[in-house]
Amino acid sequence: MHVDGAAVRSCVVPLASVAGKKIRTIEDLGRDQLTKLQQAWIRHQVPQCGYCQSGMLMAARALLDKIPTPTDADIDREITNICRCGTYQRIRAAIKDASTAAPGRARGIALHQSFGSIVAQVAEVALVKGDKGLAPKVHRVMCAIDCGTVINPDIVAAQMESGIVFGLTAALYGEITIKGGAVADCSRHESRHAIYAYNDCQMAYSGEWS
Ligand code: FES
Repeated sequence: MHVDGAAVRSCVVPLASVAGKKIRTIEDLGRDQLTKLQQAWIRHQVPQCGYCQSGMLMAARALLDKIPTPTDADIDREITNICRCGTYQRIRAAIKDASTAAPGRARGIALHQSFGSIVAQVAEVALVKGDKGLAPKVHRVMCAIDCGTVINPDIVAAQMESGIVFGLTAALYGEITIKGGAVADCSRHESRHAIYAYNDCQMAYSGEWS
């Protein structure tokens, strides 16, 4: 439950200690309709036996109220509840699914079907001040793919990661100058296009397969 907005373990909180404080329990989540967090919980099929889930949901709610876009480290640090069914990976995925873009960031979504696979990506982007004025900075790209039966998940993940890096290169650096109907700069060494390097990216591969 929450006491004045902070998640606590109700089983070890003496009743007298919460007199006059604002209490929120699981019953208040989604009182009228399921919250975004609860919907993500269902989408990721988080509960197994369900024993820990009230506490997990309330802890996740408190985390998102405090940190709208938590990292894996934030989740590990802030959610210390124990799940004997080991649903931690699903909890992480659901929290990230329900997180919102931090202030100053926006999200764009793309969905594409080709070669028998369906891929969806969400890019979280901000405009930051650079040498040449405002420039886009991509904070993270979330990717989901339905490619049918997977033999080697690592190969699929590698394909997605390299595809994202390739796309970022095109989106951030791709530029060709046309003069008089011809490409003007393709033979000039100094105008070689920048490449967004793997080293510039931090891969956070969640590896949820079904
Ligand atoms: S779902 Fe069983 S203890 Fe967490």
